[in-house]
Amino acid sequence: MAQENPQSEDALRAFRLGYDAIAWASLVGMVGLTLWIFYTLIVNTPDGTAASRAYEAVQPTLTAIAGGGGGPAASGPPAFNEGDALAAFEDYGCLGCHTHEGSGDGSLACPPLGAIASTAAERVTASDYTGNAETAEDYIRESIMEPNAYLVSAPGKVYAPANVSLMPVDIAGRIEPAELNNLVAWLLTKE
Ligand code: HEC
Repeated sequence: MAQENPQSEDALRAFRLGYDAIAWASLVGMVGLTLWIFYTLIVNTPDGTAASRAYEAVQPTLTAIAGGGGGPAASGPPAFNEGDALAAFEDYGCLGCHTHEGSGDGSLACPPLGAIASTAAERVTASDYTGNAETAEDYIRESIMEPNAYLVSAPGKVYAPANVSLMPVDIAGRIEPAELNNLVAWLLTKE
């Protein structure tokens, strides 16, 4: 027995050590698993983590600040206020002549503007185009400021009798730059 004692004590010590190690490992494992479940279920939802959601929420503001307060990314379509654009469309008489919705072909004397963004893009690349615009945006601007730079024509329509546009030329002198920009940006959404 005297010989056995040290051996069994060693064995017991070794067993305790192993037991402790396993106990600690499983404790750490449990804590880790709990944290992981918490993270996947609550923090990291399909929309991203709380941190990335918070970042996405302020990102446009950050971009605006970084861009000198100039609004969303400079490369995107120009921003506009639809209410102001509609008001200007009415105030300057555009509405009396042009339609701005739907795919109809307008009136006898005025082309439709329901898809003016696409039409404008086609006009500037057409071989018979006589104006100076190179983009749809510039074309719409030019149409308002210099109606005679290019005369729209279509079969069966009378848009420019005697080669003078029926569109009033005095709008150019009355419309404010901000109003014009807003109106053009709004018309650019009409694909
Ligand atoms: C008295 C009627 C009249 C009024 C008012 C008028 N237009 Fe026009 N507009 C025309 C006619 C006619 C044409 C086509 C002849 C031409 O090329 O100028 C035209 C052409 C255009 C075009 C080019 C259309 C195309 O198919 O290429 C745009 C854009 C346009 N007008 C926008 C406006 C806007 C915006 C206003 C208001 C600020 C306005 N117009 C006011 C009669 C009018």
